[in-house]
Amino acid sequence: MERVATVEVSPNLALNKYWGTRDNMPKNTALHNNVAVHLDGLRTTTTVRLSDEGKDSFVINGKPVSDKDFERHAKFIDYLRGELGFGSRVNLVSQNNYPTSAGLASSAAGYAAETLATVKALDLELPETRLSYLARSGSGSACRSVPYGGGFIEWIVKEGYARQLAPPEHWPDFRVVVGVASEGEKEISSQEAMKRTRQSPLFEKWLSNGEDDYQQIRRGVLNKDIHAVGEAAERNARRMHRLIRSTGVTYWNAQSWPMADAVEALRDTGTEAWWTSDAGPHIKVFCLQPDVPVVEKTLRESGALRTIVSKPGEGPMYADTHLPPVKTLSA
Ligand code: PMV
Repeated sequence: MERVATVEVSPNLALNKYWGTRDNMPKNTALHNNVAVHLDGLRTTTTVRLSDEGKDSFVINGKPVSDKDFERHAKFIDYLRGELGFGSRVNLVSQNNYPTSAGLASSAAGYAAETLATVKALDLELPETRLSYLARSGSGSACRSVPYGGGFIEWIVKEGYARQLAPPEHWPDFRVVVGVASEGEKEISSQEAMKRTRQSPLFEKWLSNGEDDYQQIRRGVLNKDIHAVGEAAERNARRMHRLIRSTGVTYWNAQSWPMADAVEALRDTGTEAWWTSDAGPHIKVFCLQPDVPVVEKTLRESGALRTIVSKPGEGPMYADTHLPPVKTLSA
């Protein structure tokens, strides 16, 4: 019997950010508890085939991954082999319906899907918390794409995994509008940039302010309070980008600044619209469903190439149809 499994996973968007790690902690240990939302309609579909010969191979969006990405995926699969006790080769084919490696959390969905599809192909039944814990080693934020219920997720640092905070139907009016600022891939991975921030003079401040942002966001989500969530989320993202810039890295481009300014100006006219941004140039706006048209218009007029609207999404789903295998030179 062919050992194959396919899973569809959504990326997640952090409301307060996982950014920075400590040297003496296990890999990808967040500094602060953090909350994220699964993004409806954005999907990574991943098929894993196990075989007893050949080599590992990773094909994403129709192309074998770069040497650097190969190393990262192969290391992660070695980690899974050690944790789960299997020896087979992994042949992975994955497809995103949104821009890859551009600050839209494709690594979160990607490593979550890689974990879930591998475990399923091995025919193992593991608790969700263990799956989330395992995915964290591929990419920290991947632990938040694992919880099956989807919706709002919180990553609890001392437990080492993420779990559902509230299901998608808890706050059906909550929206994320992404102002896409570029279709290209980023040059510096978040993991690399995070290492640099330890040397920043702003690092201690980032450490001490994180808990308040998390608490306000957590309460805000539970109370469906867009003002509380948005205010803490924007403050948190602004601080993170200031910290990143202080190390000589910037993920923003000429479109990002005017978009963020325009969102703030829109808010001055009374619309509850708050921006966030990750390791990429896109500006993502938190708002409520009736305000989506004005937020989209604001983003388009201030530089967005296009907009993507999303709401709290479903968790991972396994599929019976698989992506076709792709032969690579290494496999
Ligand atoms: O999980 P990584 O290594 O892709 O880092 C995620 C970093 C941010 O997206 C900027 C923040 C977050 O919490 O998702």
